[in-house]
Amino acid sequence: MYKTRVTELFGIEHPIIQGGMIWVAGWKLAVAVAEGGGLGLIGAGSMTPAILREHVRKAKAARPGGGWGVNLPIFGSVAADTLAVLLEEGVKVIFTSGGSPKLYTRMFKDAGMTVAHVTSTPTLAVKCEDAGVDAVVVEGFEAGGHNGRDELTTMVLVPQAVDAVKVPVIAAGGIYDGRGMAAALAMGAAGVQIGTRFVATAESSGHEAFKKAVVDASPTGTFLVLRKLIPVRVIKNEWAARMMKAEARGADDDELLEILGAKRNRLGMFEGDVKEGELEIGQAAGAVRDIPSATDLVRRIALECEETLARLNPTHR
Ligand SMILES: Cc1cc2nc3c(=O)[nH]c(=O)nc-3n(C[C@H](O)[C@H](O)[C@H](O)COP(=O)(O)O)c2cc1C
Repeated sequence: MYKTRVTELFGIEHPIIQGGMIWVAGWKLAVAVAEGGGLGLIGAGSMTPAILREHVRKAKAARPGGGWGVNLPIFGSVAADTLAVLLEEGVKVIFTSGGSPKLYTRMFKDAGMTVAHVTSTPTLAVKCEDAGVDAVVVEGFEAGGHNGRDELTTMVLVPQAVDAVKVPVIAAGGIYDGRGMAAALAMGAAGVQIGTRFVATAESSGHEAFKKAVVDASPTGTFLVLRKLIPVRVIKNEWAARMMKAEARGADDDELLEILGAKRNRLGMFEGDVKEGELEIGQAAGAVRDIPSATDLVRRIALECEETLARLNPTHR
């Protein structure tokens, strides 16, 4: 398949990365993606240190040769026990997100890991490069989960990030098939990170009701809530509509936090309460129509990307 600096960096066949996702991306999903030739990321953000260790050990046993890593959200800082698991278990690939890339990049690099950081503007991409990352993921406003405050879309963000840094750029946000992947490569990205599309796969640990809600979502079925606190793109449901109304009438932070409540994302994505839970998802949900195995999905996207690139090649006209 298409070789890029990303396939080289991570020793993978296709430059396709399954984004780390709370409640959705455990070892089974990461390993299934690796089997298809992509890079699968275990989402550490919703795991206790003990559970993370279990997932890392299972991924290591299933795929000792690699093709997988860990996504680590670093809002504020990370618990020492979680860092200890990553270092003790010899994790080789780490994607950090949600905080300063300066915080842990040097430590992970010194431990021999390949490090990428997820960010949302070209300026922040430069900061990631300055912090010493091996690659930077730039994620547009279309994406599922937490979004950047500046609301740059993938189409605008990727070429500017490519121009701003020398390290490989991985495009994320709104990519769900081989056409989107080909577009990202055309803009200079060396790979893609995909989240939403992988929620609806057989190996995703999201609740079946969540997967069904993704398959049933319309192209206008998501919106951004909590813009004032920590913007997050979700499926429009009863809870999200309540949150949206409160925000529209200028509710203060305390009230918003009360409406958010505790463990709202677990309730929706893991326990399957599709009315009252927080269902993090990207705009691409409107295009998701099936629940394939993640291994087949990686191969399908890679093949469609190759076909798209061949179609665009003048010698094929
Ligand atoms: C359900 C869900 C949970 C997510 N959780 C995380 C997370 O824990 N850490 C992170 O860096 N990104 C997280 N993301 C973002 C993805 O890793 C990925 O960058 C994003 O989904 C790409 O955009 P797309 O959804 O349009 O494919 C999440 C996305 C979704 C849909």
